[in-house]
Amino acid sequence: MRQDHPRVAIVGTGNIARVHARALAAIAGQNEQTGQTGQAAPLVAVMDADERQLKSFGTEFGVGGVYRELADLLSHGRPDLVLVCTPPSSHGELALGCLRAGVSVLVEKPPTVSLREFDELAAADGGPEPPWFATVFQHRFGSGQRRLKALAASGVLGRPLVTICHTTWYRDQAYFDVPWRGRWDTEGGGPTMGHGIHQMDMLLDVLGEWTEVSAVARTQARETATEDLSLAHVTFANGAVASVVNSVLSPREETYLRFDFERATVEVTHLYGYGDDDWRITPAPGCEDEVLDAWKHAESGTPSGHAAQFRHVRDALASGRRPPVGPAEARRTMALVAGIYASAFTRAPVTPEELAPGTPFYRQMNGAQMNRAQA
Ligand SMILES: NC(=O)c1ccc[n+]([C@@H]2O[C@H](COP(=O)([O-])OP(=O)(O)OC[C@H]3O[C@@H](n4cnc5c(N)ncnc54)[C@H](O)[C@@H]3O)[C@@H](O)[C@H]2O)c1
Repeated sequence: MRQDHPRVAIVGTGNIARVHARALAAIAGQNEQTGQTGQAAPLVAVMDADERQLKSFGTEFGVGGVYRELADLLSHGRPDLVLVCTPPSSHGELALGCLRAGVSVLVEKPPTVSLREFDELAAADGGPEPPWFATVFQHRFGSGQRRLKALAASGVLGRPLVTICHTTWYRDQAYFDVPWRGRWDTEGGGPTMGHGIHQMDMLLDVLGEWTEVSAVARTQARETATEDLSLAHVTFANGAVASVVNSVLSPREETYLRFDFERATVEVTHLYGYGDDDWRITPAPGCEDEVLDAWKHAESGTPSGHAAQFRHVRDALASGRRPPVGPAEARRTMALVAGIYASAFTRAPVTPEELAPGTPFYRQMNGAQMNRAQA
């Protein structure tokens, strides 16, 4: 079923919802496949549990339909797609409510606070037909990442060997004053789940299936129930290995990913969002012409961000396809997060198979009963 001008609703009208509303406005009239102009994905309704937030958002963005209840938003707003922008622990229930009403959802990261909850949502996904469940991982959609992925898949870069994936960001103690932050039950974890997840998703987007992780997690400096730092070594089915850092304790903030392939090093250095100029490629001796030619002729010109992902979502819906970052891909990233916590808590390497239904780290990211002091 094609949805040429999908009607969009937002649930949760806080900080990131404003980024969503601006991104929807920014993509209007830019359908790259059809060349159509006009408001391609109008924001028709919003919902929030907090009346004040709801009203101020509705006025700021001129949204006609403002609702306090999900059922009212769905029945009166009649959206084709709901963007879930509430705190993490509410994603599961709200997204399930949409899917069960036959409405597709694009859920902010982390899509859920546990693998168990994730699988409940995935089970309600319509598969080849809507309703669909997809996750916001906006850094997959800048041209730099898409170019790297395309070149890696083409074979021109050779085998991936070693990768660095550093999220070294800074959040002061006041950041954790927001009630849902820094708690296992409401946020599902610390910087591994909340911040580094973006970069680990980029890593997996390029390298594919992971096979084992060994990790350490610490609460070094902040008063928080979760970790404020994690370090991990990850191995991949294709033989590559990665070194991962997820920190909110790093005064000089930086996001850094480095992929050493047989035939080139590809790096990106940025903070919160990249453009083409943030990427660098260094061919191995003897590979210069072929590698640089491929790099030069691949996709370019799109910075990472919500607008970049929303263009792909809109174009997919307009041609009757499921939006990108479907359940299988988001689950792989969520499983790596769970694997890092499982390894840190149990002080042992962890494979994806050890996170199967019924296991402690499937049920909750801290393994529920595990002693935090072991992390
Ligand atoms: N993709 C990104 O780069 C990025 C960046 C920041 C935040 N996020 C994610 O966005 C989500 C929201 O973060 P935020 O900073 O905007 O939070 P926020 O606290 O600013 O806003 C959340 C809003 O949801 C409302 N809300 C809470 N529970 C609700 C419920 N059950 N039903 C309806 N409304 C409810 C609150 O009243 C509030 O208005 C989180 O999952 C966060 O991880 C993603």
